[in-house]
Amino acid sequence: MSNREADLQFEYMEKASAFVDELANTLGRIPTACVVTFGCQMNARDSEKLSGILKKIGYELIDSENADFVIYNTCTVRDNANQKVYGRLGVLNGYKKKNPHMKIALCGCMMQETSAVERIRESYHFVDLIFGTHNIYKFAELIYTMFVSDSMVVDIVDGNDKIVEELPTERKYPFKSGVNIMYGCNNFCTYCIVPYVRGREKSREPGDIIREIEKLSKDGVTEIMLLGQNVNSYGRGLSGGITFAQLLSEVERIDGIRRIRFMTSHPKDLSEELISVMAGSDKICRHLHLPLQAGSDRILKAMNRNYSKEKYIALAARIKDRIPDISITTDIMVGFPGETDKDVDETIDVVRKVQFDNAFTFIYSKRNGTPAAAMENQVEENVVKENFDRVLKCVQETARMRAKRFEGRTMEALVEGVNENDSTLVTGRLSNNMLVHFEGSNELIGRYVKVSLDECKGFYYLGRKVF
Ligand code: SAH
Ligand code: SF4
Ligand code: F3S
Repeated sequence: MSNREADLQFEYMEKASAFVDELANTLGRIPTACVVTFGCQMNARDSEKLSGILKKIGYELIDSENADFVIYNTCTVRDNANQKVYGRLGVLNGYKKKNPHMKIALCGCMMQETSAVERIRESYHFVDLIFGTHNIYKFAELIYTMFVSDSMVVDIVDGNDKIVEELPTERKYPFKSGVNIMYGCNNFCTYCIVPYVRGREKSREPGDIIREIEKLSKDGVTEIMLLGQNVNSYGRGLSGGITFAQLLSEVERIDGIRRIRFMTSHPKDLSEELISVMAGSDKICRHLHLPLQAGSDRILKAMNRNYSKEKYIALAARIKDRIPDISITTDIMVGFPGETDKDVDETIDVVRKVQFDNAFTFIYSKRNGTPAAAMENQVEENVVKENFDRVLKCVQETARMRAKRFEGRTMEALVEGVNENDSTLVTGRLSNNMLVHFEGSNELIGRYVKVSLDECKGFYYLGRKVF
């Protein structure tokens, strides 16, 4: 069924490209398109799929939003992501007034929220196309529909029963790529909107994943990141009975792949089997992102996270013990309803005990429709801010100290690009996900080089290529 759908979409790509050709004739140049990513790695991977189709139908992809086609791939995990979209739409409208051929599209998680779509329908008439997360595979068809209609095209569906393979993608980096292994989420952490906008968890067939990675490898990709909201529950619901650790072992066997990363691991589902596979692997990177969210058992329970503070600390200790040199990073949220200063002390206690290599800290954001939004004990803003600053300070101190431990060591880096601030330097990523800047030029991009980590600058290193 999904192959038939892909064939159908290829037909729409042809139809849409006739319109793009016509536009090229009118403009006297190749029409341009810009895809803007607002969210997480999965959102970014979706953007590559959007880019692949836009390129296929004849657009030239550019970074400027002053383009003939602009699509915002939105995120709604926290309210500030939404506000950014509304703000920037105003700017796009300005461009569109000067370029009457311009088309503006919105897709992604925020579009799965009825209230957002209503607001855009009512107040942002200049938007040409809106669709959600479940029908992104129909992008070519939707572009075609947009070209033939006079009014805003809106296509939002619920549920994600269809996985369409083999559509074109346009990768941001030639040497590394994300690979979806599952979609959606079943965990319903009480603060989180993702299960509502991304639908139920659904794993991709291992054969399809392996085929995609083999193809990427043939295409020059050496580093891949397996993507899912909770990769540790991969395989549930598939008939073959495969676990995430087994999938990793299969991916490891693919020639040409040198580094394997994955995101995100939910602590409650992290298996001993996974720790063993990681410990015995040369390819799986020495990095684990293991979101903690909070350190207080009471808050963890209210969040529906299904682990305790002690269990998390013990798990992190086991991982560090079995996989020396591993970097553990995390996500922490401050200000969940009912959280007291004492609860935040517990979070800080975990940061001290686990010694995270890095942590993303977020202020709790109330998301309509989630259980936490209906809780009555929302915490006052100034209290949250104070506690947030306390957590952040501790996280930064710990991270700085942790980074020091590799100073003076020589490690392998995959060079990702020329340094933005100093063109005599290139930037490489270490297996543990930290960055090192060292002298070099763009011919090193995509290559693995040994670098001496001469000086730790807190969150990155200044180094030297060794021969
Ligand atoms: N699936 C991943 C997280 C995806 S969302 C996991 O379970 O770990 C990424 C991060 O955003 C979360 O780890 C959490 O820290 C944060 N986040 C999610 N919902 C949020 C909310 N309502 N307010 C603030 N931060 C939130
Ligand atoms: Fe959200 Fe929890 Fe699912 Fe992560 S596991 S996406 S935080 S509901
Ligand atoms: Fe945002 Fe959707 Fe990712 S809400 S964090 S883009 S899954």
